[in-house]
Amino acid sequence: MANVIVVGAQFGDEGKAKVTDLLARNADVVVRYQGGANAGHTVVANGNTYKFHLIPSGILYSGKVCILGPGMVIDPKAFISEIDALMERGLDDALLRISASAHVTMPYHLILDAAEEESRGAQKIGTTKRGIGPTYADKCARSGIRMEDLLDRDVLKAKLDWMVPRKNVLLERLYNLPPLSAKEILDEYYELGQKVKKYVCDTSALIFQAVGERKNILFEGAQGTLLDLDHGSYPFVTSSSPSAGGACVGAGVGPTTIDRVIGVSKAYVTRVGEGPFPTELTDELGNKLRETGVEIGTTTGRPRRCGWFDAVLGRYSVRINGLDCLAVTKLDVLDAFEELKICTAYRDRETGETYTDLPSIGSKFQRMEPVYKTLKGWLKPTTECRSFKELPEMARQYLEFMQHELDVPVAIVSVGPKRDNTIVIEDPIHGPKRVLSKPTA
Ligand code: GDP
Ligand code: IMO
Ligand code: MG
Repeated sequence: MANVIVVGAQFGDEGKAKVTDLLARNADVVVRYQGGANAGHTVVANGNTYKFHLIPSGILYSGKVCILGPGMVIDPKAFISEIDALMERGLDDALLRISASAHVTMPYHLILDAAEEESRGAQKIGTTKRGIGPTYADKCARSGIRMEDLLDRDVLKAKLDWMVPRKNVLLERLYNLPPLSAKEILDEYYELGQKVKKYVCDTSALIFQAVGERKNILFEGAQGTLLDLDHGSYPFVTSSSPSAGGACVGAGVGPTTIDRVIGVSKAYVTRVGEGPFPTELTDELGNKLRETGVEIGTTTGRPRRCGWFDAVLGRYSVRINGLDCLAVTKLDVLDAFEELKICTAYRDRETGETYTDLPSIGSKFQRMEPVYKTLKGWLKPTTECRSFKELPEMARQYLEFMQHELDVPVAIVSVGPKRDNTIVIEDPIHGPKRVLSKPTA
């Protein structure tokens, strides 16, 4: 038995779904604990490509309980179209469950996400426009609508009768947009509630039972550490807690339940949306990474910004998540680069000070320029490699350098999108984990 969190160690899109899919084979329960339809998780399995937004990627295997946890925000329309499409492709929803406490993304959240972004002008966040920020804002303001509310027409009516006029003030007066009808939303969303009713339950109780039965539980993170509301590059973040701590709150389990935390990191860095990105390459090298890595957003189709691997961010991610080991993805994308760079420290453009740890992630982050170590490329294909020793010498050195810089073992290396394009160096669940250095006397 082992309960494992898979967490994005960068700005999202690290290849978490591929790693989750790999580990889900031995899991009994797969849980999404935060985020919503902003996620885009791609798994290439048996010649098919699946793109998940709300549904845990564990649904690809039959017989696994798949949970949308209480920390998620769920757009019921997006959920229904996603599960319908998956079922058309032959997948089964028998063990799919949604937490009654998860919050619902309502039509006004979607409209307000777009309107707020537009009004921010140059200060826009670059959200996915899936209503994430406004849904979590209402949750925190204790005005949100939860999945269980969709099932009770009277409760839903009372909430909407209070909420919709307030949202209409914003829509009409602040954004010059047409008002919404509480009655129309009530009819439509009660109906949607009836469609999803069969999935809704107390998922925390389900997980607690599975823990008691010594089942294997896999917590599938969405987004990434640097997009974390508390620990990311605020305000250019999402509105949930993707980092490992968020798994306990967002799934409704105690920290003592967790055995391992696996960080997923690309062999370089990408980011979609606005915000600081010290190692970003805006030149031909950046274009080459984007083209070779097919770095196009799964949810929004936006081109991803690309740059060199950043060990400062990596160390920060080890700290925030308590990573035990790392899964490094997309190593193959670097196959055709003569020279590779890894950022080992930041230099403050204004003061000249250098930092090997992220200083303060706020305004200073914007002033950081990378200090690089240059490594030789391997200029050989890696996609067919199936063991660490089959990798070209310089690729091994690259991974060893990453491991050394982050002080965390690299357990998995991904060398292509398919399931078998994978090198397992150490068992990520039972193998070596990060050891705390000895305290200095
Ligand atoms: P996630 O959001 O973290 O699950 O990542 P995404 O699915 O948004 O983006 C990762 C993309 O890279 C997907 O298209 C994957 O199929 C693909 N991918 C994952 N691992 C590898 C790899 O090792 N090599 C290559 N070339 N592609 C990969
Ligand atoms: P997965 O799970 C990459 C980014 C958006 C934007 C910021 C806030 O596929 O890794 P939001 O819509 O959440 O309010 O947008 O966060 N973002 C992601 N970037 N991968 C994701 O998910 C993301 N989800 C949100 O681009 O910068
Ligand atoms: Mg993604």
